[in-house]
Amino acid sequence: MKLSLSTVAPTRVRADLLAVALTSKGIAKTKELVELDRACGGTLTRAIRRDDFKGKPGESVRIDVAGVGVEQILLVGVGDAELSARDVRAFVHRAASAASKLRTLAVLLPIDDDDAIRAAAEGVLGGAYRYLTYLTGDRRPKRMLEGATLLASRSDAKAKAALERGQVLADAIALTRDLVNAPPNDLTPKALAEAAKKAARAHGLDYRQWDEKGLAKLGANLFLAVNRGSAEEPRMVQLTYKPKRKAQKRVAFVGKGLTFDSGGLCIKPPGSMLEMKCDMAGAATTIGIAIAAARLELPIEIHAFFGAAENMTGAGAYRPGDVFKSADGKTVEIINTDAEGRLVLADVLAQAVKLEPDYLIDHATLTGACMVALGPWTAGLFANDDELARRYLAAADVEGESYWRMPLTEDLRESLKSDIADLKHMGDRWGGAITAALFLREFVGKTRWMHLDIAGPAFLERAHETSPKGGTGFGVLTAVRFLEQLVG
Ligand code: BES
Ligand code: MN
Ligand code: ZN
Repeated sequence: MKLSLSTVAPTRVRADLLAVALTSKGIAKTKELVELDRACGGTLTRAIRRDDFKGKPGESVRIDVAGVGVEQILLVGVGDAELSARDVRAFVHRAASAASKLRTLAVLLPIDDDDAIRAAAEGVLGGAYRYLTYLTGDRRPKRMLEGATLLASRSDAKAKAALERGQVLADAIALTRDLVNAPPNDLTPKALAEAAKKAARAHGLDYRQWDEKGLAKLGANLFLAVNRGSAEEPRMVQLTYKPKRKAQKRVAFVGKGLTFDSGGLCIKPPGSMLEMKCDMAGAATTIGIAIAAARLELPIEIHAFFGAAENMTGAGAYRPGDVFKSADGKTVEIINTDAEGRLVLADVLAQAVKLEPDYLIDHATLTGACMVALGPWTAGLFANDDELARRYLAAADVEGESYWRMPLTEDLRESLKSDIADLKHMGDRWGGAITAALFLREFVGKTRWMHLDIAGPAFLERAHETSPKGGTGFGVLTAVRFLEQLVG
């Protein structure tokens, strides 16, 4: 889609639809709206009266108009409170969803500082997002949004740069969504690695991969154990972005990349298995973050690792009771083969730790328990460093993504003790999200580390706010904002 910024008057812009935000104060308070209403002969005022439109968030009305450059105007309620960039993103997202069957859209931005312009670009591209790869014939949309014009009071170089940054983030989110939505028969561990390679090549990141042999050489036996029941080959991937000028910080990301999680021999019931193509969302998020950071030329060295595997029930499948040695030398007794993510992550975290990053951050669709605790829209945040947690929550707040800090309850560590090995890989039923995090902590040493359990928000059953149904791209915005705030 072609996205542009323009200072042309809303009365004169040409598009199939013009979206304008309306606060509870009505039209009178905004000069542009008064002029727009006058130009179309008072149609807006009449529609507002007719529909008793109050400008509350969630309200919207679409009106046919004449006398201006557009055929229809969409009024979107945005409430009373002072608008933030994330409100602008939500409003523009709404406009783009409403315009999904049109060719061109114009949006009058209610505020237009750099952050609002950036968020508007994210909103318009995010709202227009569709996953179409597998649709054929009649199921392919006949028309799609081809161009969007953001109307602002400025289009200076800084404004244009903000628009471009928004576009970069929207692209990264779309890439993440596409990967999560891809069906598991096509998006195998190898295909996920190839997709990362392609993205890395396109944007100048270094790509490195480990196949089964390479993983065996590293002693990544926990990782390999998970993939033993699969006919597909596993992959570990590292994407590296190094800024041209000297990096101010080094941050490593790690993602869980289970392209499918059947549960293995401790097989899942069909109802819970269906959505398990989403179990590589951590890896997809990690890829999205690295690509965005590189395209934004952040002054931070970024290493994005992911472990891609498939948890299946083939003849070689690992069993409850098996014991394997991790890449960093700990023996682990397998309890339930459906707690596979932490095993893959343990061996990947051990590789990332070797780089001695300032921060190590993993994203993983790790536990159903985290969804039970926090609901579908909130990620669990576990950290061994208070400042890291604080910074991350602050970044999330700016972006409007929902994270909740969870405790690393020391007493629960007991439940990871095994009779015959150094560790069991899971604890008792209660506190399942916490014991999973405590298990991961065993592999990060003294590194400042944070684990983000995104089992809920990475993949949704129903659209929610600016997140579509299916893969959402949750996590990319907060991570990039965190990185920006780390150096700016
Ligand atoms: N991939 C799942 C967690 C998950 C559940 C992600 C729902 C997204 C939506 C994970 O591998 C898993 O199966 N976890 C088990 C752990 C249990 C066996 C200790 C769970 O949460 O039930
Ligand atoms: Mn599982
Ligand atoms: Zn899983």
